[in-house]
Amino acid sequence: MAKQEPIQVKEGDSAYHKKAFITILQLAYSGERAAARAYAGHWRSLPPGIERETIARIEKEEVEHRQTVGKMLQELNAKPALWREILMNCIGNCAYIGCFFTGWFLPMYFAGKLENDNVKEYDVAAAHAHALGLDHLLPALHEMSKTESEHELFFSRCVQKHWLLKPVRAIVGWDPQIVLAKYADEP
Ligand SMILES: [Fe+2]
Ligand SMILES: [Fe+2]
Repeated sequence: MAKQEPIQVKEGDSAYHKKAFITILQLAYSGERAAARAYAGHWRSLPPGIERETIARIEKEEVEHRQTVGKMLQELNAKPALWREILMNCIGNCAYIGCFFTGWFLPMYFAGKLENDNVKEYDVAAAHAHALGLDHLLPALHEMSKTESEHELFFSRCVQKHWLLKPVRAIVGWDPQIVLAKYADEP
């Protein structure tokens, strides 16, 4: 995978980093639930083939991420945020159903955008973990960031030549061409 610059977080005391780290983990924990539900609908809405198989695998990876993040929250004596769990569960279930009605392009594009956000989220989490001296958590955080990058690359490749990309990118902003350029030298 392409090398990434280390994320810098604002200087602060350990209380600041702990609060920020727990907040990101809570967001990620619930976000992984929403992603897994959305992908559960997404792959079921597709015909048999490589896209369906890959997205079914991605769903499993999001479930594993949620388990990993849940263990980190436990280690910090923190709990998932209940309101966030309810909200993201609703969003994930709406996306599950929406994938059957919104056509091929939009679920693929928004999955790529979501993955882009997830990469950044785990990189920032790793920076806070390091600031707290929790370096034993870094391999898992970096691994999750790497997996989200692979997911983003997959969805980028899917949508890159679709005619709707130009107008939707102009409105939403996420640009798969930037991702593809970053990995252009890779197989
Ligand atoms: Fe994930
Ligand atoms: Fe992902």
